[in-house]
Amino acid sequence: MTSARATALFDRVASVYDEVLPFFAGFGQQHMDWLAPVRGTRVLDLGAGRGALTAAALARGCRVTAVDCAPGMIERLSAQYPAVHEARVMDAHRLDFPDSSFDLVCAGFVVHLLDHPAAAAQEIRRVLTPGGVFSFSVPGPVQDAPEWEFYGALFREFQPLIPVGEGRLSRPLDEGRFLATAGFTGISSTAVEQRLPVPDADTFWNWGLSHGSRAFFDALPADARAAFEARVRAELSAMDPIVFAAGAGLWRGTSPA
Ligand SMILES: C[S@@+](CC[C@H](N)C(=O)[O-])C[C@H]1O[C@@H](n2cnc3c(N)ncnc32)[C@H](O)[C@@H]1O
Repeated sequence: MTSARATALFDRVASVYDEVLPFFAGFGQQHMDWLAPVRGTRVLDLGAGRGALTAAALARGCRVTAVDCAPGMIERLSAQYPAVHEARVMDAHRLDFPDSSFDLVCAGFVVHLLDHPAAAAQEIRRVLTPGGVFSFSVPGPVQDAPEWEFYGALFREFQPLIPVGEGRLSRPLDEGRFLATAGFTGISSTAVEQRLPVPDADTFWNWGLSHGSRAFFDALPADARAAFEARVRAELSAMDPIVFAAGAGLWRGTSPA
């Protein structure tokens, strides 16, 4: 059930993922601060990427298992975080762990990429101990940053130039309903933001190519991609300094005892 497109894309960007700007590391830190697991918590970082959540959980003394469908991500995560309990290539829809293996399953910017989120949620419930927590993040709005509205608007403007079925890896997700339908209780959420200093326009453009949005740029016809890049650079030329404002939604629910 693993999406071949997602695996290929994230394997391709693994060497630069979160290296251009610490975007995912920053949100991973905020996410783990919100969850505040105690030392010794058995954590599964699902769709771990380069380890944004893994790093934050290890810093809190948790026992962290990390899985991802992209081998390039797992290879680098293992090398960077030798303290991780286990790091394995695995599909979120079929978790190769016994029942009740974890106290906390966390997934940073993953659930909205899955082909079958409901099936993954059942697997997550199975591997969670009764009373365990499932938490995930999704991209979200940012307040008081009108200068960045252009970026999302550009994606919407250029979307019709991409053949149907290509470009975007993400799907719409009703987060609360997703958790409730899967049987999680005590559902809550919060919004977080970060402001990242960006040294120059080259860095921002390269950041866009270093994560999931790469799929969008690669699917654009060459002239449209050049036009998109020119529009981004024109907007950034009016910013001094360039400070990237981005938001995320954090969600959590408890597996019934
Ligand atoms: C946007 S990245 C987020 C990575 C990391 N959680 C973070 O916060 O930086 C999404 C990750 O989910 C992984 N992924 C996508 N579909 C998956 C699946 N079906 N099973 C496991 N991992 C998956 C990708 O390979 C990628 O590393």
